[in-house]
Amino acid sequence: MDQYKLMEILKTKGKVKAVVQSWKSKGYTIGLVPTMGALHEGHLQLVRRSLIENDKTICSIFVNPLQFNKKEDLDKYPDTFEQDLQFLEKEGCDIVFAPEAEAFYEGVGANYYDFGLLGTVMEAQHRPGHFEGVAAVVKELFLAIMPQKAYFGEKDFQQLSIIKWLRTTEQFPIEIVGCDTVRSGRGLALSSRNLRLTEKALLTAAEIYATLNFCRNNVVIFDPQTLVEHAIAKLNQNCEVEYFEIVDEETFERVEEWEETTCPRAFVVVHLEGVRLIDNLSLNP
Ligand code: PAJ
Repeated sequence: MDQYKLMEILKTKGKVKAVVQSWKSKGYTIGLVPTMGALHEGHLQLVRRSLIENDKTICSIFVNPLQFNKKEDLDKYPDTFEQDLQFLEKEGCDIVFAPEAEAFYEGVGANYYDFGLLGTVMEAQHRPGHFEGVAAVVKELFLAIMPQKAYFGEKDFQQLSIIKWLRTTEQFPIEIVGCDTVRSGRGLALSSRNLRLTEKALLTAAEIYATLNFCRNNVVIFDPQTLVEHAIAKLNQNCEVEYFEIVDEETFERVEEWEETTCPRAFVVVHLEGVRLIDNLSLNP
């Protein structure tokens, strides 16, 4: 790791806190980009935004065991650490925080959060315990670093809402910045999981974004339920839909009539060749 001359790689909260403290004493602003590694353009976009908007940027790389409800998913999570470091150094990231799980959670008590509807629908329903794990890791990162801004992708829109809820509930003085979903040329949301898809599946996966756009373009023609049925039928031709929902993006209430909401958003998860793919799109024009 000596080759990283400009960027520091830190493994403990203590070391990160010390650097953060020295930066803050000099009046520097700090941006934090939490990740689980296996970095791609989607992550790097968050890093770039942080670099532009803050004096210093910390990217965390930590495959958080608490947020995996299936052990096999944790075990097969890709590890491309050296390549991640190269990407981050090239972007000009200041610090990579890459803790070990045991030390990271040492002495950390459990949280008993009630996320409300956010904590019962869609991802929360299909991945029990997932958001509790996400909230636990992000809370610890926030406590250790307390950045001015923290960056999250809209690709995981419900997660972004959980983080905003956490910020408000814990009264963290941190601006949560949501960033657009970065997509491939055909519209597939970038994800480390896409690497596991064959060429044929990559073409099929492009139907996810096409279907979300179909929904956005047809809100005046169909009621929400009919639109959801069309979307599921279209996607089920070539993949397996886990859920497809249209909800209000602020309350997460399911939209039964368009008049009930000013901000409808479609959320989808499909399975293709054993890979779980997630996406969402605002249905406002
Ligand atoms: P990870 O899946 O590594 O994603 C890290 C951040 O990158 C998240 O905020 C995610 O929404 C964002 N991201 C991923 N793909 C993106 C894309 N195609 N376009 C835009 N943003 C994208 O999400 C997590 O890690 C973890 O749950 C974490 C928040 C780090 C907590 O462990």
